[in-house]
Amino acid sequence: MATKKTIKSGIIGTGFSGSFHFEAIKKVYGTNIEVQGAYGTDTDRLNAYCEARGIRAFSDADSLIDDCDVVHVCTYVDSHEELAIKILEKDKFVILEKPMTGYCGDGSDDFNGDTFPRQDALDHAKASIQRLLEAEKKSKGQILYAENWVYVPAIQKEREILEKTGAQVLWMHGEEAHNGSHNPTYAEWKCSGGGVMLGKGCHPLTAALYMKRIEGTTRDGKPIRPASVSARTHMITRMENFRDEGHIRNDYHDIDDFAMMHIVFEDGTIADIVTSDIVMGGIHNWLEVCTNNHRSLCNINPNTAMQTYNPVDANFKDIYTVEKACTKQGWSSTSPDEDWFTGYPQEMEAFYRTVAYGDPVECDSSLGADCIMTTYCAYLSAERKGQEVDIELL
Ligand SMILES: NC(=O)c1ccc[n+]([C@@H]2O[C@H](COP(=O)([O-])OP(=O)(O)OC[C@H]3O[C@@H](n4cnc5c(N)ncnc54)[C@H](O)[C@@H]3O)[C@@H](O)[C@H]2O)c1
Repeated sequence: MATKKTIKSGIIGTGFSGSFHFEAIKKVYGTNIEVQGAYGTDTDRLNAYCEARGIRAFSDADSLIDDCDVVHVCTYVDSHEELAIKILEKDKFVILEKPMTGYCGDGSDDFNGDTFPRQDALDHAKASIQRLLEAEKKSKGQILYAENWVYVPAIQKEREILEKTGAQVLWMHGEEAHNGSHNPTYAEWKCSGGGVMLGKGCHPLTAALYMKRIEGTTRDGKPIRPASVSARTHMITRMENFRDEGHIRNDYHDIDDFAMMHIVFEDGTIADIVTSDIVMGGIHNWLEVCTNNHRSLCNINPNTAMQTYNPVDANFKDIYTVEKACTKQGWSSTSPDEDWFTGYPQEMEAFYRTVAYGDPVECDSSLGADCIMTTYCAYLSAERKGQEVDIELL
């Protein structure tokens, strides 16, 4: 067996995603990884994160990047482009969290996500993607777009089925939903670059884009890409008549909490993506793929790998069951290994194989670009109450 290569890595952003990235790094088996340290703008959080993991806390991003072959960007979308370009300019690889990039407003204090013209968001997001792709072209590094849905076991099994049966994907529908993000800054467009259509919709959307890419490359050697989108967005928890009973987050400032996108691909086939912050009972993540020779329901969460019945909530006080379920009483779709079902360790294994051995990237900047262009075209469509918008492919 060939000797394993050693890769030096670092993490920027030491919050929720910085934590699951670190857990996933620990499970990589094909590459030796030396974590050089981390950097984050919240010094207390950075120090606690580094102390808990026995790694060095860097005082700036540049010196961390200089010490690494690959850097994980686990910050909010407003800093994704700047950090990714900085990393690429130093000829390093960047593992870039979703969404790849976005439009976080014009910088003014009174920027309002409800009222600004959506064409501005599309124009700025397009320019941002172009700068990222340009920086990647000039770099010896690469963008490894961290859309974990692409690496989910059920999605990868469906990839195998598409490749081996030569199926034509006719219609997909998928969803990511739960009862609200844990992140306080997510409530404002100027931090999040959009609402649920961007923040959560990007997951099933990218998986759907990936399926048509696989179909196209298998049969004709080129991906089938999105051509147009019609969308609606809603602000259900901000309606005056929303009756809050304390189970659904409802402090959003200027973002959507429900969205649906209808995508038409270049070959005329379709996908429907529904995404929301108004659904109780844990995370609801799935993609159904309807083809000309089979049909698959890829259940990510919940799934039936394990189901537990617990008559008294307190009995399970020290037991993690499943993300965002809110209660452990009664029946639970307990996940025996949630990270595995979510694709995090598989994603990191694949990314480090690219960095160390040059393996091709399944989830690359082109897939990220199509996701972002589709989403901001969808916001334009929603502004026009669902009118179809053509997607410019970059
Ligand atoms: N793939 C997934 O399943 C998944 C899940 C959650 C979040 N995310 C993505 O991860 C990203 C971060 O979200 P999170 O939930 O981890 O947020 P978080 O608030 O938990 O952590 C973000 C951290 O980044 C730091 N930070 C912000 N700007 C920075 C900068 N310019 N330089 C260095 N540090 C900076 C903050 O201080 C904070 O500690 C978002 O893009 C989000 O969409 C992905």
